[in-house]
Parts: sequence; structure tokens; C-alpha cells
Amino acid sequence: MINNKLFLKLFWIVCLVVLISHLTMAQEDMKFIKSPAFKKHQRPPAVFYHDQHNEKAGIEDCSICHHYYENGKLVEGAMSVGQPCSDCHHLKKYKGNKIPLMDAYHNRCIQCHKQRKKGPLACGECHVKK
Ligand code: HEC
Ligand code: HEC
Ligand code: HEC
Ligand code: HEC
Repeated sequence: MINNKLFLKLFWIVCLVVLISHLTMAQEDMKFIKSPAFKKHQRPPAVFYHDQHNEKAGIEDCSICHHYYENGKLVEGAMSVGQPCSDCHHLKKYKGNKIPLMDAYHNRCIQCHKQRKKGPLACGECHVKK
């Protein structure tokens, strides 16, 4: 027979499992990028199936995109997973923000597609109308 204490234990275990799978699934659910930092979007959100994209492209190092900087210097081996790009890249260019948000996305995505001669380069291939 299941008593109250055992039931409570089982209940918390189930909660924990659900929580963990939610945390690890977060980026699996990502299908596009639409940063709320752009207050008004001129283009449809950019298609980006996060996990599927990185698997197909054979990218294992998260810091290729989620890089981490301290005092304007890249910290090798550190990652900024969990921080949106807009935490550090702001909309407008100013002295301490050489790469504004749109350029940060564009440079990162398009540079690699050019280098590898794979992946979309045209506006409409990333900003796909629904
Ligand atoms: C090709 C670039 C790229 C690579 C490689 C990459 N990510 Fe991301 N990831 C992104 C972008 C872009 C976002 C959205 C950032 C934003 O909101 O500005 C993101 C968001 C996330 C988020 C937030 C999830 C959400 O739904 O908002 C997590 C967690 C994450 N990435 C984990 C990882 C981990 C772990 C790795 C390495 C295994 C990784 N990423 C590799 C580009 C990448
Ligand atoms: C912890 C802060 C931080 C986060 C988070 C961050 N960046 Fe950066 N990034 C910087 C800084 C600082 C520079 C140096 C540019 C400068 O001096 O203004 C930089 C430079 C860049 C550059 C130019 C140099 C290079 O590596 O090619 C690109 C492109 C870039 N970031 C894209 C991104 C993208 C895309 C994301 C989100 C997936 C992101 N960054 C997240 C701080 C950050
Ligand atoms: C380090 C290299 C690299 C970076 C960075 C990168 N990509 Fe890619 N991307 C690829 C490669 C390689 C392919 C082709 C994969 C294949 O089909 O073999 C690709 C394919 C794609 C495709 C086609 C569909 C798919 O998932 O295969 C889209 C859309 C795409 N990338 C969007 C993006 C966006 C948006 C970013 C920036 C947030 C980005 N990529 C950053 C390497 C990269
Ligand atoms: C490899 C994919 C890729 C290509 C190619 C690309 N973009 Fe983007 N672009 C992005 C990503 C990722 C973002 C960030 C998306 C967001 O947050 O809405 C972005 C953001 C933007 C933004 C700011 C957000 C908005 O909707 O106002 C504009 C404007 C934009 N792109 C225009 C263009 C134009 C014009 C072209 C062609 C010259 C282009 N992009 C090509 C991936 C791409």
C-alpha cells in the first residue's frame, strides 16, 4: 500500500524529472530566433532549429556562438549559454558596443555559411515568410 509519505516522495521525484527535462529541452524546442530586443521587427523571425542545425553542421563547441567576454576580452573556454545575445550586444552602435545586435547575428551566421559554402546566405532563406 502507498502511504502518504511515500506518495509525497514520488510526487517530488516526478516534479524533479519534469523540471530537468524542461531545462534540457529548452533549446530543442527552438525553431526560430526572434529577439524581443528588436522592438519592432522589419523581417519575419529567422529560421533556426537550434539542435538540429548544430547537429547537421557538426558544431559541438557551444562557445562558437555563446562566447563569453570580460572587460572587452574573449575568455577562451568560457561560455555564455543561457544569456541572450542582446545581454551584451545592444541595438545601436556606440563606443563600448562595436558589434550591434543585428550585426552580431548576421556576422556569426553568415560568416560561417560563407566559409563552409553551406547554409543560407539570402535574406529570404533565413527570414522566411510564413
Ligand atoms: C550556431 C550557433 C549556436 C551554437 C553552436 C549553439 N547555440 Fe545555443 N543559441 C543560439 C542562439 C542564436 C540562441 C538564441 C539567443 C538569443 O536569444 O539571443 C541560442 C539559445 C540557446 C539557449 C536558450 C534556449 C531558449 O529556448 O531560449 C540555450 C539553453 C542554448 N542556446 C544552449 C546551447 C548549448 C548547450 C550549445 C552547445 C551544445 C549551444 N547552445 C550551441 C545559437 C547557438
Ligand atoms: C557576455 C557578453 C556577450 C554575449 C552573451 C555575446 N557576445 Fe558577442 N561579443 C561580445 C563582445 C564584448 C564582443 C567584442 C565586440 C566589441 O568589442 O564591441 C563580441 C563580439 C562578437 C562578434 C564579432 C567577433 C566574432 O567573434 O566574430 C560577433 C559576430 C558576436 N559577438 C556575435 C554574438 C552572438 C550571435 C551572440 C549570441 C549567440 C553573442 N555574440 C553573445 C560579448 C558578448
Ligand atoms: C560554425 C558554422 C555555422 C554557424 C555559426 C551557423 N551556421 Fe547555419 N549552417 C551551417 C552549416 C554547415 C549548414 C548546412 C548543414 C547541412 O545541411 O549540411 C547550415 C545550415 C543552416 C540552415 C539551413 C537549414 C538547416 O538547419 O540545415 C539555416 C536556416 C541556418 N543554417 C541558419 C543559421 C543561423 C540563423 C545562424 C546564426 C544564429 C547560423 N545558421 C549559424 C553552419 C553554421
Ligand atoms: C543566415 C541567416 C540570415 C540571413 C541570410 C539574413 N539574416 Fe537578418 N537576421 C538573422 C537573425 C538570426 C536575426 C535575429 C532575428 C530576430 O531576432 O528577429 C536577424 C535580424 C535581422 C534584422 C533585425 C530584426 C528585424 O526583423 O527588424 C533585420 C532588419 C534583418 N535581419 C535583415 C536582413 C536582411 C535585409 C538580410 C539580407 C540582406 C538578412 N537579414 C539576411 C539571420 C539572417
